[in-house]
Amino acid sequence: MLRPDYPIRTERLTLRPFADGDYDDLHLMTGDPEVVRYLYWEVHTPQETRAALERRKGQAALTEEGQWLTLAMQAEPEGQPRVVGQVVLRWASVAHRQGELGFTLNPAFQGRGYAREAAEAMLRLGFEDLGLHRIYAACDTRNTASWGLLTRLGMRREAHFVEDEIFKGEYGDQYIYAMLDREWRSRQTSST
Ligand SMILES: CC(C)(COP(=O)(O)OP(=O)(O)OC[C@H]1O[C@@H](n2cnc3c(N)ncnc32)[C@H](O)[C@@H]1OP(=O)(O)O)[C@@H](O)C(=O)NCCC(=O)NCCS
Repeated sequence: MLRPDYPIRTERLTLRPFADGDYDDLHLMTGDPEVVRYLYWEVHTPQETRAALERRKGQAALTEEGQWLTLAMQAEPEGQPRVVGQVVLRWASVAHRQGELGFTLNPAFQGRGYAREAAEAMLRLGFEDLGLHRIYAACDTRNTASWGLLTRLGMRREAHFVEDEIFKGEYGDQYIYAMLDREWRSRQTSST
């Protein structure tokens, strides 16, 4: 069970559940074809983004297997609070203590290290607060920005699945990256 104490603060970000006022910033991501290019869903209509916001508002805790913790990354890039991205942690297995990590940034705020900062905080929540043994992430092999970030986080490339599923109408390849709790701990020790 994980019920984080909000807001979670990192060096430049506030991580918190989505709220009613986040529609415009959320739609800048869900409505952008470049953002969804390697995601399972297609560009959202305004109505679909409103429904997505409602779902996200309810994803603030992990109480059972299969749930998603979905947090807004709030920053103040021009002195005003903006939701620049979202970061997710899925409780993939209770018995095996497994979690899945994911992240999305508004393109205007990519290339600043925000996703890395938020993902580190999610790894910390998963390993230190939820007690996970392994956290993994899956990405399209063409998504160099995604697997570059997973590499910078210190996750290992565990698998390259070749044409294991039909993605947006054609067979695609996926990488699986992962980190174990002991690898997380040794990274924390070596960085202090
Ligand atoms: C995947 C995604 C979140 C990566 O975003 P990103 O901005 O490249 O990732 P980071 O937050 O780690 O930022 C790293 C970049 O910021 C730069 N940077 C600038 N200031 C920085 C700082 N203070 N700290 C760290 N990095 C900084 C880094 O040099 C790096 O740039 P580079 O890629 O040109 O080398 C983004 O491409 C995205 O949202 N894609 C669409 C959704 C998606 O595909 N999600 C993944 C599904 S599997």
